[in-house]
Amino acid sequence: MLKLGVNIDHIATLREARYRGRGFGEPCPVAAALACEEAGAQGITAHLREDRRHIQARDVWALRRTIRTRLNLEMANAPEIVGIALELKPDIVCLVPERRQELTTEGGLDVVAAEYALTETRKKMNDAGIAVSLFVAPDPGQIEASARTGTQYVELHTGQFAEAFHRAEDDRQHCEMELARLVAAAQQANELGLKVNAGHGLNYENLPALYRVPHLVELNIGHSIVSRAMSTGMGNAVRDLLCLMQAYRP
Ligand code: PXP
Repeated sequence: MLKLGVNIDHIATLREARYRGRGFGEPCPVAAALACEEAGAQGITAHLREDRRHIQARDVWALRRTIRTRLNLEMANAPEIVGIALELKPDIVCLVPERRQELTTEGGLDVVAAEYALTETRKKMNDAGIAVSLFVAPDPGQIEASARTGTQYVELHTGQFAEAFHRAEDDRQHCEMELARLVAAAQQANELGLKVNAGHGLNYENLPALYRVPHLVELNIGHSIVSRAMSTGMGNAVRDLLCLMQAYRP
């Protein structure tokens, strides 16, 4: 069964918009995570950025103490955050690129360029009992380099697909091309022994189109769930998405 990890960063974004630097405030990402679990989500994802623009260290510690499903810590391969992760012991880390000016994680990792550094961090995490995922574009060179690092998972960046889906009425071919890239990357990753997750920009409209991609284990979805939750509540937003995900046939 295809699993759902709910990314709760945007709950913290809303809190920080009013309470930045105060150490308290609402809405509470942990309460949101518990509502997601209650509704059936199989995991919770939080990105502890170096600039701390949304999730704070206290949030990830509270999540570690509280949630009963899988904690996926998204993080840059930066010494400070690596240190926190090794202490925190999330179930899995997803290594992502980070740029200060970006609105959200914009591209995949350049695993080809950073293969040595990523391999070193992969080893540290695995030695501490933490699984590792690398967030990569559906690019053959990046998938191949990911396998060489010894990572257990890749998370395929679905941002380009989501953008193309948005414009599919004007340019169906582009959307088909992005889907074909994801299909090929998932096949390649599977052949190399990697487990395949996917995420970024997925929503209630574009999700069914993604089901052509084989071997998917988990989807990490944040913005669209949190947005829908504004009108339906977190539990209903998660239940609606899980219902859509039942149509996936790997
Ligand atoms: N996966 C990764 C690696 C991400 O960086 C993000 C965005 O934080 C997501 C999934 C979730 O993306 P979205 O909020 O667009 O669903």
